Parts: sequence; C-alpha cells; structure tokens
Amino acid sequence: MIDLTPSAIVKELDKYIIGQTDAKKSVAIALRNRYRRKLLSEEMREEVTPKNIIMMGPTGVGKTEIARRLAKLVDAPFVKVEATKFTEVGYVGRDVESMIRDLVVTSIRMVRQRELDKVSEKAEELVNERLLDAIVPLKKKEDKKQPTPYELVFGGVNGKPAEEPMSEEKYNELSSRRDKLMEELKAGHLEDYMIEILVEENKSIPIGSINGGGGEMDEINMDIGGMLGGLLPTKKKKRRTTVSQARKIFMNEESARLIDEDAIVEEGLRLAENEGIIFLDEIDKIASASYKGSGPDVSREGVQRDILPIVEGCTVNTKYGSVKTDHILFIGAGAFHMAKVSDLIPELQGRFPIKVQLKNLTEEDFRKILTQPQNAIIKQYKALLQTEGLELEFEEEALNYLAKIAYLENETNENIGARRLFTVLEMLLDEISFYAPEYDCDKFVITKEYVQSRFKKEEEGLLGDTAKYIL
Ligand SMILES: Nc1ncnc2c1ncn2[C@@H]1O[C@H](COP(=O)(O)OP(=O)(O)OP(=O)(O)O)[C@@H](O)[C@H]1O
Ligand SMILES: [Mg+2]
Repeated sequence: MIDLTPSAIVKELDKYIIGQTDAKKSVAIALRNRYRRKLLSEEMREEVTPKNIIMMGPTGVGKTEIARRLAKLVDAPFVKVEATKFTEVGYVGRDVESMIRDLVVTSIRMVRQRELDKVSEKAEELVNERLLDAIVPLKKKEDKKQPTPYELVFGGVNGKPAEEPMSEEKYNELSSRRDKLMEELKAGHLEDYMIEILVEENKSIPIGSINGGGGEMDEINMDIGGMLGGLLPTKKKKRRTTVSQARKIFMNEESARLIDEDAIVEEGLRLAENEGIIFLDEIDKIASASYKGSGPDVSREGVQRDILPIVEGCTVNTKYGSVKTDHILFIGAGAFHMAKVSDLIPELQGRFPIKVQLKNLTEEDFRKILTQPQNAIIKQYKALLQTEGLELEFEEEALNYLAKIAYLENETNENIGARRLFTVLEMLLDEISFYAPEYDCDKFVITKEYVQSRFKKEEEGLLGDTAKYIL
C-alpha cells in the first residue's frame, strides 16, 4: 500500500480503463487518504472520515469498472449494490443495513482466504501424510496396542493389516516403501488410485457458500449451521474414493484445523470497518426530481433517509458482531440524466463531497478500448478462438472501422457506451465463431473489407442517418 501513491493508482487503473482521468484521480486520492489516516494517532484517526464520491456519467463509460478495479488493486472488501434495490423501512424489499452485512461477509471471506493461503503449505504436508497412511498404513514400531477382538478374528479393519508388533526389518522396509510412495504422491502419479478414508460428517459449514441473497433468512440458517457445528461431536464416516477427491476433503479438514476462525471474524470486521468500499449504483434513481409526481418520490426520499445514517456513520449489528460504518468509503454512481445530484436530499448530498463527471467515450477511446486494456475485448476473442486452433488477426484499418461503427451506433441508436463494442464484435464474429471448429485454415485475418461486408446493412442505416444529422 505504501507505494500506491495516487499517481501509481491511476497508472494501475489505466491498464484497464481508458480515459476518465478525473474519476481515476478522485478515487486515487480517496484511497490514499485512507492510507494517510492509518498513520495518524488514534484520536486523530477517529476524526478523519472518508470523502465519499459520486461518479456521474452515462451508461457504460467505466463507472463500475473503476470502482471494481480499485477494490481489487488495494485488496479491500468491496460490494456493489443497486440503490433501487432498497425500500423504505416498513416496505417489502431489502433493508439498507443488508449492504453492511454483505460487506462483512465479503470481508471475512477475504480474510479467511488469506489465512488459508498462509497455511496451505503446511496443510498440504499434513494431507500427504494422511493420504499416505490411507495407502500404506504404518504403525510406529513402539506402538504396541492390543488388537481388538474384532481384529483378532477378522484381521485388519480399514484395509489395514492386523496389528502385531512389527520387526525392525519390516518397519524399515515399510518405511522405505512409504518414502517412495510419498514421492509418487507428491508428483501426482497416484491421483486416480482408490482408497478408503474416514471423513468428518458434521463439518462446520463454510460461511461464504450459504450467503445467497443476504437478508434475514440467510442469517438464521447460517446461525443454525454454526451452532450445530460447534455443539455436536464430529462423526466420522467411511468412504471409498480416489486420492484426488480425498485430497480435496483432507485439505478442507486440515486447513480448517490450522486457522483460527474467531480471529478471522475479528479481523474481517476490522477490515470491513476500515477498508471497506461500498459502491452504491444507480443512486440517481432514488433522487426525487422535482418535476415528478409526489407518489413514488415519498418512498425514494425514504430510502435516502434510511441510507443517510449508514453513510454518515452508525453501528450496524451483524451476526458476526457490530460494525461501525464511519470509515467505510462510499462511492455513489449514476447517469444523472433525469435527476441531478442536487435532487438528492441535502443531508445525503453533503455526505458525498466529491463529485466527478465521467465523459462520453469518443471513437478514439473505442479504438483504444478494443485493444489496449489488459483484458481488452479483442484479446478475449482471440484467446477464445485460439482454443479452436484458429488464430485471429485484425488489421489496423479494420479496428478503426469497428470503433467507428460502435461510435455511430451509439450516436444514432441508444448510447450504451463501451458495451456497444461487445455487440459489434459479436456481430462481426458470429459466423467465424460458429464455423471455427470446422475451418481447415488456422488463421483468419479480419480486414476492413470483411468488417464492411458484415455491417453492410447497418452501415447504410448509420451513414444514412448521420448524413441526415449533418444536413
Ligand atoms: N473507459 C473505459 N475503458 C475500458 N473499458 C471500458 C470503459 N468504459 C467501459 N468499459 C467497459 O464497458 C463495460 C461496462 O462498463 P461499466 O460497467 O463500468 O459501465 P458503467 O459506467 O458502470 O455503466 P452503468 O451506468 O450502466 O452501470 C465493462 O465491460 C467495461 O470494461
Ligand atoms: Mg455500472
């Protein structure tokens, strides 16, 4: 985090998002302020609250993408919620506090994953030992446990040989066999081998997987799972399975034993409180534009009033513990076509001191978006068709032309921003995509002529329409 200076953050974001420098700068400063805050004395730290941001801009110009990339960049817990999903207290729908609960769940999941990564090497070692035990059991020399009556009559249980005190010689032989097998095991040569293992039946349920849509029901279900997990002794069940499957099961069991769930929850809560980012999408849709009728406005304003304390800083109770929302960073976003930021209730406006306008994307931007970002659309399509053994090549002219078509489509039909590029590319490539598995050639060059031939009809429409515009 130390070297993530604002300009470094902007530079990182530049790898994925073309243009929108103002918005990138704003979020970079907000992020840096968080880091600065961490360096302050405790007293001072409590006083410094984040400067929340509203991003205004038409659809598909990178609002969500900026926020998402930002969260990834700094490894902060991030949730995106649509403001329209909430309804005023007392109405059906999700209550506003659910966004905090979602953030906590995300945060805890992140912390758990970090801890799991830390112990994974150790866990792997333990797992290999257990797998080996299941393949060739080896009782220690000095272990002279009396065989049970069952074992005396029927021989071993569990596929293990009946236990008798082992001779030095036999022990050494077994042990060198185990060493060899361990090598095989680690090399992954035994993955399909069938073994019999004991699995813990009543495992505590990983918390992340249950959280469906949030809300009260999930919380209750999760609680029951957690309680049972804690109360009942773990029962073991025999199961025949492959080494590779057993490896997964053992890995879960061993890692769970190596991590401290309580500490994870605590760290998760702390992380959510101090580094959480909540992206409030479509915030313009809960603004009540003055020219609208009074009916739905009442409820919109109600939602704003409900959101207010959360943005302002309050304590929300979750099943993991209470969370203070004072230092969570909120990024609001919306097109603000119909409503203006000033249509939000003044108290809420005041909680979003930074407002940035994202720009409409130009033909030039489109051209860059096609190829420049690390996850650029053209790269994606190339990779997809590569799996069919077909290499796609785009001529420069063709790319320029595609950008032009996307731009004109947005101008004449609906403006859907960069998402237009996806529809344009789908259309361009649908034939190639369809026949790719059957082509004999292993390379396809997309020329300007090919693009033109694919978009003949559209082009006439577009150029016709724009011609009209110009006149
Ligand atoms: N400036 C940009 N540079 C690169 N890619 C972009 C840019 N703007 C948008 N995209 C791409 O377009 C798609 C939609 O962008 P995004 O989700 O950020 O839109 P948005 O501004 O949040 O729109 P909406 O208001 O509809 O939510 C994403 O796949 C994103 O990668
Ligand atoms: Mg969006």
